[in-house]
Amino acid sequence: MLKDLILKNRSYRRFDQSEIVPMRLLRAMVEAARLSASARNMQPLKYMLFNDSDSCSKIFPTLAWAGYLKEWPGPGDGERPSAYIVQLGDLELTDDWWCDDGIAAQSMLLTAVEGGFGGCIVGSVQRERLRGILNIPDRYKIIQVLALGKPVEEVKIDDMVNGDIKYWRDAKGIHHVPKRALDELIVNFG
Ligand SMILES: Cc1cc2nc3c(=O)[nH]c(=O)nc-3n(C[C@H](O)[C@H](O)[C@H](O)COP(=O)(O)O)c2cc1C
Repeated sequence: MLKDLILKNRSYRRFDQSEIVPMRLLRAMVEAARLSASARNMQPLKYMLFNDSDSCSKIFPTLAWAGYLKEWPGPGDGERPSAYIVQLGDLELTDDWWCDDGIAAQSMLLTAVEGGFGGCIVGSVQRERLRGILNIPDRYKIIQVLALGKPVEEVKIDDMVNGDIKYWRDAKGIHHVPKRALDELIVNFG
């Protein structure tokens, strides 16, 4: 069951924009992050939650989508995220959160998928522009943004061929993600 959830938890970038991610699910996602591991148990990460169209339309232009899909400018009107979670590091607690941000992001996305939604971690963010839009004080570093919604795209995992890591879309719009083979990941130096 966990593997099914992990399999379903793809990076989704096209959504039914009319399906708003409920605030209670956004809060449940942060609850999952709250319960996750944290280096030195410092718990320095904070979250801003948005599911209103005005905030979403302001956040959207600060994000970059699917760098390997050169011809695709990102989701069009009607297919954009209906919610965002902006993940922040509280510099008054620490400036080193090790890998807390990724662990928390995965916990949050799994919760979103279990709740019938999905999303994408967006690390390519115009951070200073977003800081201005959201009035984020300097005390907080913008780490990444989770773009969220009701996915309308099919994402298929493929075996990687000749080390080609680039995801791609076929003529039917199915998004293909090559993954390395299990035995390539498990190494042995004995
Ligand atoms: C730390 C991190 C940052 C990412 N940043 C972006 C991004 O800026 N824009 C984007 O479209 N996808 C982004 N992604 C999504 C990856 O492209 C995606 O995870 C990868 O293509 C594999 O697809 P999968 O998540 O469905 O397995 C990011 C993923 C991670 C883990």
